[in-house]
Amino acid sequence: MDLGLAGRTAVVTGASKGIGLAITRALAAEGVTVVAGALHGSEELSAVAGARPVAVDLTTPTGPAELVAAAGDAVDILVNNVGAVRARLDGFVALSDEEWEWSLTINFLAAVRTMRAAIPRMTGRPGANIVTVSSVNAFLPDPGVLDYSAAKGALSNVCKSLSKELGPGIRVNTVSPGPVRTDLWLGSSGVAATVGGASGSDPADVVRRQEAAAPSGRFTRPEEVADLVVYLASDRAANITGSDVTIDGGLITTL
Ligand SMILES: NC(=O)c1ccc[n+]([C@@H]2O[C@H](COP(=O)([O-])OP(=O)(O)OC[C@H]3O[C@@H](n4cnc5c(N)ncnc54)[C@H](OP(=O)(O)O)[C@@H]3O)[C@@H](O)[C@H]2O)c1
Repeated sequence: MDLGLAGRTAVVTGASKGIGLAITRALAAEGVTVVAGALHGSEELSAVAGARPVAVDLTTPTGPAELVAAAGDAVDILVNNVGAVRARLDGFVALSDEEWEWSLTINFLAAVRTMRAAIPRMTGRPGANIVTVSSVNAFLPDPGVLDYSAAKGALSNVCKSLSKELGPGIRVNTVSPGPVRTDLWLGSSGVAATVGGASGSDPADVVRRQEAAAPSGRFTRPEEVADLVVYLASDRAANITGSDVTIDGGLITTL
């Protein structure tokens, strides 16, 4: 399927690894120039032909605008992907203002600031659109990741509002993954290690239990999320806006 994306310019946040790296690779493979922001960067990102890595802290008030400015005056596609989660094992009352602020900044405010900077550069460009990587936790509130769930709920909500404000010129969609095989879940300080450490269980068992909760019996691969994002970013999805697409192996059981 020709997605017709060649020659366009995209900004991707959180692009050095995991889902963001997969999205960057997939867009670049379609001939898109990808301005790819991450805190530290990575060898894998530097190796992507067509990607322009930008080292930036997206949790600062100015970081998102600095990233967008690196794309120049014209942006066709924005992928809000940056996000992070810390398992909250001590309950709501133990959660401090600082922890709330950290979560709301990286999972919500970073995308707000990036969109504020990008939208003026997208206006009037044919096919311009925003795809935001939210989470099933946006509509599956989980006390174990209570602040993350709240931040992702706000993120999906704002994107839906924006689809109404910006149509017909700019499409705005979200994708909501269930667990994905990245460091966020599987890394040395990821969800499986944190939950396993606190409960005295092997992180691999934590993953197996989570996998068993989905009809597909497995986590999603980052490349599978990337394929979905690239489709939504293409003109093949020209009449899809204000939509949220779940990719979770069937984990969510309600309609
Ligand atoms: N993995 C899952 O199970 C899952 C499920 C649902 C939704 N999601 C969402 O998918 C998105 C990507 O998650 P992932 O699993 O791919 O995460 P990941 O593997 O941990 O990658 C996170 C990316 O964000 C970057 N980043 C972190 N803090 C940053 C900062 N302050 N400034 C700039 N960049 C920063 C990292 O860059 P450096 O490495 O350079 O620091 C990295 O490129 C997130 O929004 C997450 O909430 C993930």
